[in-house]
Amino acid sequence: MKLTLSVIKADIGGYVGHCSSHPDVLTRAEKNMAAAKKAGTLIDYHVTRCGDDLQLIMTHQKGEENGEIHKLSWDTFLACTDVAKKLKLHGAGQDLLSDAFSGNVKGMGPGVAEMEIEERDAESIVIFMADKTASGAFNLPLYKIFADPFNTVGLVIAGNMHGGFAFEIHDVKEHKKVMLNAPEEIYDMLVFLGAPSRYAVKAVFHRETKDIAAVSSTQRLSMMAGRYVGKDDPVCIVRCQGYFPAVGEVLEPFAGPNIVEGWMRGSHHGPLMPTSVAQSNPTRFDGPPRIIAAGFQLSGGMLVGPNDLFDDPAFDNARKQANDIADILRRMGPFEPHRLPLEEMEYTTLPQVMKKLKGRLIDLD
Ligand code: F6R
Ligand code: MG
Ligand code: MG
Repeated sequence: MKLTLSVIKADIGGYVGHCSSHPDVLTRAEKNMAAAKKAGTLIDYHVTRCGDDLQLIMTHQKGEENGEIHKLSWDTFLACTDVAKKLKLHGAGQDLLSDAFSGNVKGMGPGVAEMEIEERDAESIVIFMADKTASGAFNLPLYKIFADPFNTVGLVIAGNMHGGFAFEIHDVKEHKKVMLNAPEEIYDMLVFLGAPSRYAVKAVFHRETKDIAAVSSTQRLSMMAGRYVGKDDPVCIVRCQGYFPAVGEVLEPFAGPNIVEGWMRGSHHGPLMPTSVAQSNPTRFDGPPRIIAAGFQLSGGMLVGPNDLFDDPAFDNARKQANDIADILRRMGPFEPHRLPLEEMEYTTLPQVMKKLKGRLIDLD
């Protein structure tokens, strides 16, 4: 059966500060999603959160970028913002950049990852959701999952994956895209993927079947808003097993923390710490950035799960290493490379301060 999986997310208010979500907000989202399921708009749904980001995971048969599904998400975010405002949560409605819905939430603040698939006999999926980081944060893990045989041994020893995967990479600043094939174009691919503040993997495809393997949200909140309002806090859907990497191969890149941009005030590099949903509360210096992984089996569009995949002692070392990296980076305080390079600080609150200091700079003789 043809099925669409839509993951649409927004930060509509934090509890306390920017470190977590209030249960009443999640309850309100549940209510809207349940009504949409009852009305037949959705086949199934799961509401969760990563840090202060509200995540709507939905299955339906209406295709990608469907107006009804996007409106449902937008209205749910608005209803949850009302709850957030009543509780005076911090930054209530922060990611909703416009008052008027125009048929598609893309460009309006929320992050979106959607894929239309033919549900397989056993359809295992992992949905990654991150907080306090930017959309390029999935470049390194997606490269490891779909192009690095030291991570994914299936690329070497499984005949149905040996043909490799194609990567759709977006230039998030210039709005361009490029398709590159692994393994033969990995050196070209890394030219782009190694610069995650500018280039982000939008999707990955199985080269022989042409089937979609992964999709991520590449929306840059600062670009949409034209100012700093918070980080993108991206999501990514990955199909697993069979002719896709196994769940364990998909989780493996997170066994060693990747260093990403985000953290305090969206202005720092920090380790991406894999945690359970319950532990996705970026507290220390508003971080370190978190990532959760919700695993589901799809059954006729029903979301069987979630299995909270990082809720596992196998990721204790990654968490320990993330804390060690955090200690080391924090020693640098406001210095680069803990603080982002000036070019990236353009999209934070620093330019306002720079403006004040401009007059102090005088020409050298
Ligand atoms: C980072 C983030 C936080 C805030 C910080 C200041 O993505 O959301 O680190 O930038 O807590 O928040 P405001 O300006 O809302 O007081
Ligand atoms: Mg926030
Ligand atoms: Mg957030």
